[in-house]
Amino acid sequence: MEFEKTLKERTLKVNSIIEDFLPEADNTMYKRIMEAMRYSVSAGGKRLRPVLMLEAYRLCGGKSEHEVYPFMAALEFIHTYSLVHDDLPAMDNDDYRRGKLTTHKVYGEDFGVLAGDGLLNYAYEVMTYAVASSAPENIRKAARAAQTIARKAGVFGMVGGQSLDVWLTDKPMNESELDFIFNLKTGALIEAAFMAGGILAGAGETVVEKLEKTGNLVGVAFQIKDDILDVTSTQEVLGKPVFSDEKNNKTTYVTLYGMERASSDVARMSEAAKKLVKEIGDNPFLVELINKLINREK
Ligand code: IPE
Ligand code: IPE
Ligand code: MG
Ligand code: MG
Ligand code: MG
Repeated sequence: MEFEKTLKERTLKVNSIIEDFLPEADNTMYKRIMEAMRYSVSAGGKRLRPVLMLEAYRLCGGKSEHEVYPFMAALEFIHTYSLVHDDLPAMDNDDYRRGKLTTHKVYGEDFGVLAGDGLLNYAYEVMTYAVASSAPENIRKAARAAQTIARKAGVFGMVGGQSLDVWLTDKPMNESELDFIFNLKTGALIEAAFMAGGILAGAGETVVEKLEKTGNLVGVAFQIKDDILDVTSTQEVLGKPVFSDEKNNKTTYVTLYGMERASSDVARMSEAAKKLVKEIGDNPFLVELINKLINREK
């Protein structure tokens, strides 16, 4: 219970950080695009990636938390853009997200594309502003955090994973292809969360590598669980349609390995991630959060 309360407080804190960085939807000629961007971000996700980034920062002994805020907001903007585009008719063609109609359903496909573009670019504006306005002794750390997020979000990260995911839709997929897709489409942004938190706290190379591995385990377990929930949950609980993968004729972890192996792999990877976190430092909340993801319902 104590954990749930703390998680809720931290999620609300992330919401207010995100709100601080989001551009206003005022009455100018920007109104519609700003509204579409705000609609998708404010719909309320779990905010897992920014929460993890801040916990990784704490794990590595970071003390000036405000220096992480722009990177937390930026990563959530990038993640949200990836969802807006993932839901488009050209990709997974889904009508609900985060308990509401998807952005393109409300604002049209054109604004679905543009709201995603807007969020993605705005994320870089927020990060590069943070780099440029860092104290001289922190500029290098901030630049490395931004570079890490950029790489993990791009073609060598999330975009690369989504590309193979859509390319192999309706086609057979082998184990190493599924592995590639999971590592990149979902693993990469969660790796970025752990790594950026550590980098901003001043962690050295070896620790950042461990954080990357931790993020990978958490991220891949998270996507396996997402595939499980796609066939075991309900739209009401998930806030997004179930059987989306089947509708799109996608190979998933569950179709490739079966439900039993999928569940045991989630547990195994989460255990390994918790072990790595404990090797890096002391953060019982982070360990419990990783643990809770095994049994998450949404
Ligand atoms: C959904 O991510 C897409 C996947 C990578 C599985 P989340 O489950 O974190 O979505 P939100 O942010 O809570 O809506
Ligand atoms: C998408 O995976 C991961 C992203 C990078 C957006 P899914 O297509 O399974 O995500 P959901 O189920 O729509 O959230
Ligand atoms: Mg998809
Ligand atoms: Mg999808
Ligand atoms: Mg899914």
